Amino acid sequence: MTDVPSSRKEAVTASAPAKVILFGEHFVVYGEPAVVIAIDKRAYATAKLRKDEKIHVGSVDMRVSGTFKGAKFQAEKGGAKAQAKLEPVKNAVQQVLTTANKKAGMDVTISSDIPVSAGLGSSAAVATSTIVAAGHLLGVELSRDQIFRLAYETERLVHGTPSGIDPAIATYGGTLQFQKGKDFETLKVEANVPLVIGNTEVERSTGELVAAVRHMREKHRYIIEPVMKTGGRIALLAVEALKKGDLESVGDMMNINHGLLCAVGVSHEALERLVYAARESGALGAKLTGGGGGGCMVALAEEKKLNRVTTAIVQAGGTAFQVRKTDEGVRVEP
Ligand code: PMV
Repeated sequence: MTDVPSSRKEAVTASAPAKVILFGEHFVVYGEPAVVIAIDKRAYATAKLRKDEKIHVGSVDMRVSGTFKGAKFQAEKGGAKAQAKLEPVKNAVQQVLTTANKKAGMDVTISSDIPVSAGLGSSAAVATSTIVAAGHLLGVELSRDQIFRLAYETERLVHGTPSGIDPAIATYGGTLQFQKGKDFETLKVEANVPLVIGNTEVERSTGELVAAVRHMREKHRYIIEPVMKTGGRIALLAVEALKKGDLESVGDMMNINHGLLCAVGVSHEALERLVYAARESGALGAKLTGGGGGGCMVALAEEKKLNRVTTAIVQAGGTAFQVRKTDEGVRVEP
């Protein structure tokens, strides 16, 4: 281990985008292709060096903070729940320190416009931006591939078998065709893809939902495996439709994909209400996005119908916002 040379900058802020999975969540864990889009909501991490070797983490939006000294944690704000919420940030910093073979303490502050535990990739965006902020602060050059790998390792510590789709999109941005264990492909999507996100505000754990799907697949393998294969075919057809700008077909694929996600048990009454409200108000397609079981749905709509779809989702009990795709992955803020 070497000690950290004095940093060129006193504080570094990095940010990474949220995402919506348009196709293939859950099935991607079993090797099927998925399509994911980075959206114009971001998480920000600001890192500063400390004089000691402690890691202090604070989240403005979650109102939690505390200090890690080795494995010990001292909560400052947020009581007993603070540690679990802040641990991934500490893990991200430690991954960078280990990679750089350096010893240092840091203050990391997180702020974000991404709703948490909603299936929009908030934790991966936080981990990825923390890795880049900490790396820059230490004067360590990390390639995008290295950033992705470190963010993936951080996510693995939180839930056992992630596909890697969340850290990939937070790192690279754009629209990705993703398949576990294979190189992902950046898709050239020229069409505007107008989306409305509806949040049920029902909190859930992605890890538990992934485990529930695994259980269902083990119990009913002959049924669930073909469902997953069909999910993979839908994602590939949707890639072609997206490239051609054929949004009507993309919408159809979203509706069918949602049906398959219901079949594996990850929808929720509140999600169904928002999905049907969006479709009835003229969306081209609507489905749950991410882990399901609550969290968010996504609707695709023609530009002129966006406001109507947004209002319908709100009237059905959700919070709603319109999003655009962004090509920018993780970046250091000026
Ligand atoms: O973290 P979420 O809720 O956005 O969902 C991640 C997508 C899953 O396919 C459900 C899990 C994974 O690791 O790919």
